[in-house]
Amino acid sequence: MYLIAWEDAQPVGHAHIAWSGTHLGLPEVQDVFVLPEKRRRGIATQLTHAAEEEARARGWNSISLSVSQEGNVAARLLYAKLGYDDAGADPVRVSGPIMLRGLPFDVDDTLVYLTKHL
Ligand SMILES: CC(C)(COP(=O)(O)OP(=O)(O)OC[C@H]1O[C@@H](n2cnc3c(N)ncnc32)[C@H](O)[C@@H]1OP(=O)(O)O)[C@@H](O)C(=O)NCCC(=O)NCCS
Repeated sequence: MYLIAWEDAQPVGHAHIAWSGTHLGLPEVQDVFVLPEKRRRGIATQLTHAAEEEARARGWNSISLSVSQEGNVAARLLYAKLGYDDAGADPVRVSGPIMLRGLPFDVDDTLVYLTKHL
């Protein structure tokens, strides 16, 4: 499921929710992105809250996501502020192309999994 943030008629951000086949067996928020010129206005916060609502509405009481262990300070601060905690799972090394929105993206990162009780 993709959630799209709109400002008037313009899509300004998105987030994907994977409902199955996830690393922790919980709904997982993925591919959160906000247009650079629209950042720091609470759009990712709203997208994440909307994903949490969708999970709650389906009867889940926890939700998960992954962030770069050492990079992406913005994302780590965002999820800390939104109440996500380390899931206690081993970090996962990801390298090589991954498919996002039908396109291959090269990644080389170590991800930590976070969860939030809903
Ligand atoms: C990370 C990202 C999604 C944040 O989107 P956003 O709409 O700017 O986030 P919000 O406005 O909801 O920010 C909420 C809080 O997160 C933290 N935060 C977000 N961006 C930050 C930054 N660049 N530096 C420091 N803190 C930041 C702040 O605590 C912020 O609250 P504040 O603005 O009141 O200080 C956006 O920067 C982005 O699209 N980055 C590229 C894609 C990406 O990294 N996605 C995450 C993958 S895990």
